Amino acid sequence: MHEHLNIAVFASGKGSNFKAILEAINAGRICNAKIVLVISNNSDAGALVTAREHHIPARHVSRKQFSTDDDFNAKLMSLLVGYRVNFIVLAGYMKKIDSKIVQSYKNRIINIHPALLPKFGGSGMYGIHVHEAVIASKENLSGASVHIVDEEYDRGPVVLQKTVAVDSTDTPESLAAKVLQLEHEIYPEAVRLFAEGRIKVIGKQVSIS
Ligand code: GAR
Repeated sequence: MHEHLNIAVFASGKGSNFKAILEAINAGRICNAKIVLVISNNSDAGALVTAREHHIPARHVSRKQFSTDDDFNAKLMSLLVGYRVNFIVLAGYMKKIDSKIVQSYKNRIINIHPALLPKFGGSGMYGIHVHEAVIASKENLSGASVHIVDEEYDRGPVVLQKTVAVDSTDTPESLAAKVLQLEHEIYPEAVRLFAEGRIKVIGKQVSIS
């Protein structure tokens, strides 16, 4: 038997990806996994509201509440350990995860990115900026990527991707909406594969059985 996933979700905003995963778990489409904690750097994040509605522990933890990076990261680690978290899902979390946490949860942190990585990733590439850049470079295709989080921003191995055509009439907003639909399909799917123990990561190589 593979390990039961005790998931912490980190989210900064609306939390629609968090919701999609929660719905998949509640509907029985993902077994062997539970969201035990939601953390946001924004006190008014929709993700915290959704978590509380579902009686999931929800915490506002921001770097601004602490005087040092170490204190901030120690707080995050103590929450993760306290809730026995063994898997972390970044769902629209707009802050970088500290390397100590990445090391403690090696190959056990995933992120969703609204483009076809390795293109359109890295610093400054988040939210609507990604879709603006895709349209500005006249790409015919965009999409969503789920990847493993390692120390290099948006550079960890890709687990799942799904593509969508960029139409000549697309605006950054219309493209964002199309990509978000794909995100809601592939993110629960990726969590399901991890919960079923079907993803192996060796070095930078991901294999799915
Ligand atoms: C999603 O489109 C996600 O891919 C993006 O933020 C949005 C969050 O939506 N993440 C990034 O840009 C990370 N670099 P949500 O709060 O509704 O899930």
